Amino acid sequence: MGKDKLKRFAENESFKCLFQPDFDDVFRKDYMLKGRWHSDVFKNDNPIVLELGCGRGEYTVEMGRKYPEINFIGIDIKGARLWRGAKSATEESLPNVAFVRCRIEFIEWLFGPGEVSEIWITFADPQINRDNKRLTGTLFLERYRKFLIPDGIIHLKTDSLYLHNYTVAMAKLNHLEITEENKDIYGSGRADELLSIKTHYEENYLSMGVAITYLTFKLSSYNKLIEPEKDSL
Ligand SMILES: C[S@@+](CC[C@H](N)C(=O)[O-])C[C@H]1O[C@@H](n2cnc3c(N)ncnc32)[C@H](O)[C@@H]1O
Repeated sequence: MGKDKLKRFAENESFKCLFQPDFDDVFRKDYMLKGRWHSDVFKNDNPIVLELGCGRGEYTVEMGRKYPEINFIGIDIKGARLWRGAKSATEESLPNVAFVRCRIEFIEWLFGPGEVSEIWITFADPQINRDNKRLTGTLFLERYRKFLIPDGIIHLKTDSLYLHNYTVAMAKLNHLEITEENKDIYGSGRADELLSIKTHYEENYLSMGVAITYLTFKLSSYNKLIEPEKDSL
C-alpha cells in the first residue's frame, strides 16, 4: 500500500466526524448510532441528508457549508477518498457534516425508521449487468425505505444515461412520483448553486464533454417494488 494511503488511514482515526464501523458492528446487527444520530452526533433535530458513494465527499461538505440547518452524512467504503471530505469538515469545524466508512449494503443497520429525510446518489457505478448492486435498484430502495421519512426524496446525479433511464423506468413502473428530470443540467441552464457543486468524477466527465443528468423522485412506502424488464430499457 502507498505511503500516502497509510498516512490518510492513520489520520482518519483522528477525525471525530468520521465513523468507521467494523464488519461485526453492522453485519445484520444494529450499529450503536442507529436511531441516535440526532441526539448523539449532531445534537439537534435538524433533517439528515445522506450522500451514497460520496467518494471525496464534495457534495456532503459543500452542502454542509451552504445549509448549516441540515445535517449531512457521506457514506463510502474507500477510506483514502473519505479522508479528503473528513479533513475539510474537520479543518472547517463543520458541526453538521459526518462521514461513515461502510458498505452501503449494510445501510439498514446504520439508520433507524424515519431518521433520514433525503438521499443523494452522485455518479454511482451504473452496474449495467448487476441489478442487485445498482444503488437505485429495487433491492437498495427497499433498504432505504426502512429509514427514510415517508415520501423521502432521492436525488440522482449521473453521467450515465443508462442509470438515469433505468431509474426513470423503475420509478414510473412503481408509481414513484418523479419531481424533476433533466438530461443536461449545464446545457439547459438548470445547474443552480446546489446542482453546480462538482464532484471529482463529475469534473472528469465534464472535461470529456459528457452531459450530466439529474433526477429526483419520492420513495413512497406503500407498494412492493418491482424491477423493470431488461428488454424495456
Ligand atoms: C464512481 S465513484 C463516485 C464518487 C463520488 N460520488 C464522485 O462523484 O466523485 C463511486 C463511489 O462509490 C463507492 N461505492 C461503490 N459501491 C459501494 C458500496 N456498495 N458501498 C460503499 N461505497 C461504494 C466507491 O468506493 C466510489 O468512491
